[in-house]
Amino acid sequence: MKPRLQIIVGSTRPTRFADKPLAWLLDRLSSRDDIDLDVLDLRDHPLALFNLALSPARTHREYPSEDVRRLGQAFDSADGYIMLTSEYNHGYPASLKNALDYVFVEFNHKPVSFVGYGNVGGARAIEQLRLVSIEFEMAPLRHAVHILPDVMRPAMMAEEFDLEIFAPLDERLEMLINDLTWWTNALKAARDAG
Ligand SMILES: Cc1cc2nc3c(=O)[nH]c(=O)nc-3n(C[C@H](O)[C@H](O)[C@H](O)COP(=O)(O)O)c2cc1C
Repeated sequence: MKPRLQIIVGSTRPTRFADKPLAWLLDRLSSRDDIDLDVLDLRDHPLALFNLALSPARTHREYPSEDVRRLGQAFDSADGYIMLTSEYNHGYPASLKNALDYVFVEFNHKPVSFVGYGNVGGARAIEQLRLVSIEFEMAPLRHAVHILPDVMRPAMMAEEFDLEIFAPLDERLEMLINDLTWWTNALKAARDAG
């Protein structure tokens, strides 16, 4: 069975830029026949600000509500992740942190790569997410795609958006996906072996 990779879309703003890099990721990655690709858009998972009595690191899959169950099961269904992140005030979006805090075991022993955008390509947000991922017992990977203003600005301003604006980043994405697929297969085999 092919490994299932999930793109987690961190921004939920109505006017978000995230949809443009998401369209590019889907265009470039959906042709690969060695992975199944899925999108988890946090807009589809409106959640209360974290309010659980106990840490999900202790309760595991005892979901307290239907909203949290839907989120947890969606995360659970993937073998590896690409977090697509914006950067707000040098950090990753609160919408993403809030969703992550609702789960724990769903992410254990799975790899995660990052695509970020902003003035420094989301680098500060991604560095923070790498630290957070370690707490989830994930394997955060080195290869990332940083969408800097030379690409982000034309993509934002374009009257008619053209995916090819992101073409200079294709090679970086290729490295990311090859590495993520390797780790996803390796860790899935290890998890399956118990
Ligand atoms: C509250 C706020 C804070 C921001 N802080 C940063 C920042 O620290 N670094 C950065 O590169 N861009 C920053 N930006 C600009 C964002 O990169 C830009 O708005 C981007 O479109 C946000 O992603 P989104 O549209 O997908 O939500 C900030 C934007 C907002 C709304």
